[in-house]
Amino acid sequence: MFRRIKWLFLLFVLFLVGGLLAALWFLPGTFSAKATPPAWEVKIARFIRHMATPSHFLKMGNPIPVSHEILAEARHHFADHCATCHANDGSGKTHMGPNFYPPVPDLRDPVIQSMQDGELFYVIHFGIRLTGMPAWGKGPPEQDQESWKLVHFIRHLPNITPEEIAEMKKDNPLTRVEREQQEMLDQFLSGRDAEPATSHHH
Ligand code: HEC
Repeated sequence: MFRRIKWLFLLFVLFLVGGLLAALWFLPGTFSAKATPPAWEVKIARFIRHMATPSHFLKMGNPIPVSHEILAEARHHFADHCATCHANDGSGKTHMGPNFYPPVPDLRDPVIQSMQDGELFYVIHFGIRLTGMPAWGKGPPEQDQESWKLVHFIRHLPNITPEEIAEMKKDNPLTRVEREQQEMLDQFLSGRDAEPATSHHH
């Protein structure tokens, strides 16, 4: 009996050491965000995430009635807080968007648009752990109206107009270079700059 336990213990230690060696073998590069996740990984991750969303959120409808004003408000909000990663049109084609692991998805894609309202709300309020998607909700979810308004805006993204995108550009956060250019332009326009208007050739 004792001998058997001894052998089992030895076997266990061997497995442990083998497992550790295998993990070390696979580890280099494992945490790089440069790779693109394979389709099966995306499918499994989305499935697990769906299962991990509390069911009462999945069943919730958007409590805020959609209107022109609500959409305009959410559009401002999205341009200011989300477009750095997601782009004004929701395509995810930004400087950072494709470099996350997983990359920022196209929010107009049927995969995202087929998610329930409550699931989109859950993602915006609570974020997605181990990805670049932050949690935006402040306070308890019952009081978070902003995220519900953003859900309306995400539904609207497939039909967004070029005029709306132009409007959003005014709300996008500026980079340092853009801010400096803006300041120079403002200075020039206010006439405080020495640059003579005659130097303009058309
Ligand atoms: C710092 C970058 C970043 C910002 C800012 C950001 N997101 Fe995301 N978002 C991500 C990434 C990365 C993903 C992909 C996560 C994944 O696929 O698991 C994502 C995914 C999503 C999704 C899709 C979830 C899904 O199931 O695939 C929605 C909806 C979303 N974001 C909404 C928003 C909204 C609304 C805002 C602004 C309030 C915002 N995001 C701001 C990085 C960002």
